[in-house]
Amino acid sequence: QDIFTYDPGYMSTGSCKSAITYIDGDAGVLLHRGYAIADLAENCSFLEVAYAILKGELPNQAQKEKFEFDITRHSMLNEQINFFFRGFRRDSHPMAVLCGVVGAMAAFYHDSIDINDPHHRMVASYRLVAKMPTIVAWAYKYSLGQPFMYPQNKLSYAENFLHMMFATPCEEYKVSPVLARAMDRILILHADHEQNASTSTVRLAGSSGANPFACIAAGIASLWGPAHGGANEAVLQMLHEIGSVDRIPEYIKKAKDKDDPFRLMGFGHRVYKNYDPRAKIMAQTCHEVLNELGVHDEPLLKLAMELERIALEDEYFVSRKLFPNVDFYSGIIFRAMGIPTQVFTCLFALARTVGWIAQWNEMLTDPDQKIGRPRQLYIGSPYREFVPLNKRA
Ligand code: CMC
Repeated sequence: QDIFTYDPGYMSTGSCKSAITYIDGDAGVLLHRGYAIADLAENCSFLEVAYAILKGELPNQAQKEKFEFDITRHSMLNEQINFFFRGFRRDSHPMAVLCGVVGAMAAFYHDSIDINDPHHRMVASYRLVAKMPTIVAWAYKYSLGQPFMYPQNKLSYAENFLHMMFATPCEEYKVSPVLARAMDRILILHADHEQNASTSTVRLAGSSGANPFACIAAGIASLWGPAHGGANEAVLQMLHEIGSVDRIPEYIKKAKDKDDPFRLMGFGHRVYKNYDPRAKIMAQTCHEVLNELGVHDEPLLKLAMELERIALEDEYFVSRKLFPNVDFYSGIIFRAMGIPTQVFTCLFALARTVGWIAQWNEMLTDPDQKIGRPRQLYIGSPYREFVPLNKRA
């Protein structure tokens, strides 16, 4: 009889060694490659952080420029993918489209799928990071019935994404530097978060030697759920449902009621038992973006801040150490930027692709790497005699 630990939800299982991201959940600390998330969000571009996550060190000037050049030159999609999009219903959820299109990349980019070749792995990684903004923007354009906008090499990563989302062939979209910077910062805040559900999914899928694009599609599927990346969409739905400050106590009561499945979305975290450091930066970015857009007294922001205040004074949330997480304020920023609710989780996936592919690379170069294969406690019937169909009750 094998001996193993029963650990539902892997609450106490360390599944790998990793040098990418460090979290101290009790202290509210998040480091990528040793750098504090606040320093990275304040001083770096998303591509600088992506470089560090992928390669271990922040780039110097020459490395930064080369990386930006390489990513920019990979941002176009094989034109055939254009037709792949057209197979979807126009009202498909963009996460369903994203999952399908990223999985389909396995069929389009055959020259980067020898996972034992470091060059192939690097090309696959660059392709994923470079093409995700194009795929997300096209999923949105497709839902509107508008023409796809192609990436432009003169634009930065965040500018390009906003351009592909909001420009049309009839009208230039002037990307505000403040909004581009905010988008860049939001991407940094979502870039990696060690062994969360979607990253563990990518690692588990990849542990069998599967195609990298297919592994990332698996990560996207896992991220979609409301307990994970889907929470940013769910927060906005919840705020709309609450509607006004006077109804907050009613929803706090529902969240505490164990017979009611309702939870405060954007609250709580498996690892953080303190304020999520990303949520702090997100709240600050939210104020900056609304200021830039001239949106004063945004009712949803007021509602969110009041909800946070009331929850953090409530014994239920205090005793369980439930604080706002990264998803609590991000939806309000996205909405102010004009991004529709259904695209929120796609933005999370866009940013997290860097972490997923870096973790996939790290796993494949780890000498301890083995196929992931959890065990189970069998609770079904013991052996019994087979009953032919005509004798069954
Ligand atoms: N509202 C009300 N109660 C909650 C909440 C919440 N948002 N989160 C946890 N609890 C309670 C839970 O009922 C349990 O209470 P008790 O001890 O009385 O049974 C206790 O807090 C511990 O919760 P848990 O479900 O055992 O904790 P977990 O680590 O398994 O779950 C979580 C973590 C993030 C799934 C959960 O907090 C949750 O569902 N939050 C809402 C969804 C959300 O915001 N998700 C985004 C997470 S951060 C970004 C990301 O990972 O993508």
